[in-house]
Amino acid sequence: MAEVTILHQIEKIRDYERGYRASHVLNTGFRFGLLNALAEAVEGLSSPELAVKVMLYEPYLKIWCRTAYHFEILDCDHQGRFKLQPFMEEVLGLDLYAQTSPAKAAFASGKGQESMGSDPLDQYIRTGRISPSCQTPDASFATRRATKSMITIFVSMIFPARGELKKQLSDGVELLDIGCGSANLLIDFAHAFKRSRFVGIDSDVHGIEIAEGEIEEFGLTDRVHVENVNAEDMHFNEEFDVVSMVLTLHEILPESRPAALSKAHRALKKDGRIMILDYPYPGRLEDFRNPRYEYGIMEQYFEAINGIVHISQQEQDELLLQAGFKDIERMPVSEGGMLDFITAAKP
Ligand SMILES: C[S@@+](CC[C@H](N)C(=O)[O-])C[C@H]1O[C@@H](n2cnc3c(N)ncnc32)[C@H](O)[C@@H]1O
Repeated sequence: MAEVTILHQIEKIRDYERGYRASHVLNTGFRFGLLNALAEAVEGLSSPELAVKVMLYEPYLKIWCRTAYHFEILDCDHQGRFKLQPFMEEVLGLDLYAQTSPAKAAFASGKGQESMGSDPLDQYIRTGRISPSCQTPDASFATRRATKSMITIFVSMIFPARGELKKQLSDGVELLDIGCGSANLLIDFAHAFKRSRFVGIDSDVHGIEIAEGEIEEFGLTDRVHVENVNAEDMHFNEEFDVVSMVLTLHEILPESRPAALSKAHRALKKDGRIMILDYPYPGRLEDFRNPRYEYGIMEQYFEAINGIVHISQQEQDELLLQAGFKDIERMPVSEGGMLDFITAAKP
């Protein structure tokens, strides 16, 4: 038997994760008649054509089609029409499904959709009605665990490349973290950079409650403070040297983003900088098979029902420029460049 290494085990778990996600895409395709509709369309279907055919919400179908393209379940022609890849119809048993499935008949008559259950995806895929981002103690705790290692990304990947940022934090700054969650990163920063002071804000009250407990417990109340407020409702005025958004910009709803960034700009002192760490998301279909975008594609697929809309590099730049930022710099970080570290200045 081949030697078992840690890399081998990481690879194994990654494969399981990919398999789970691809199965979810297939399952959604079966459940809502998407794969079947595509099997019937010899010339392929664009996402608006698919939406008309199955009478479901087009923005979600676009995300689904692109994710299925990512997993090489679908191909796409130069006119934007998606088609099943060769042999998928047989392998997935869609030919049999078309002849025998009662669910197919129910979909064709519209009854299938009427009888759908109370799953948030059922609501969203029919009506586009979003399920508010679940801000429960359990959800906040899950986010806390998932983002626990943000400090590692800074220490091992960002600071070595951006020494001036580390120096600034060591010398002492006022830093505002927008979307701080339970303040993992702020607490780690406060331990590492004893001359700096930190404020965190988040719309999730449960995350803020956890943060308050931890800040108290670590005896950091003189240098770390958190508030339960939305980014778009902040009222800071030229108080901070650095504003950060860690895995947060994509989570701020599209209608609130311009206000959130303009409030971030206002919160900065002259010559202050914003630093954003977030998933890159492809702006062109060709990039949906580039592994660098894998996290962004998967996050978008699962977060769509919460109204979350991931943004391409071009859209990020436009938002920053509109808010008044200049000198945008971007650096891929983490293995395979699956995160982007972006900075911009307030002149
Ligand atoms: C993926 S979590 C990242 C949390 C934290 N930055 C970390 O890395 O541990 C995104 C955070 O953005 C917050 N968020 C989303 N929309 C927001 C808004 N409009 N204003 C403030 N925070 C927001 C969420 O509540 C959530 O805590």
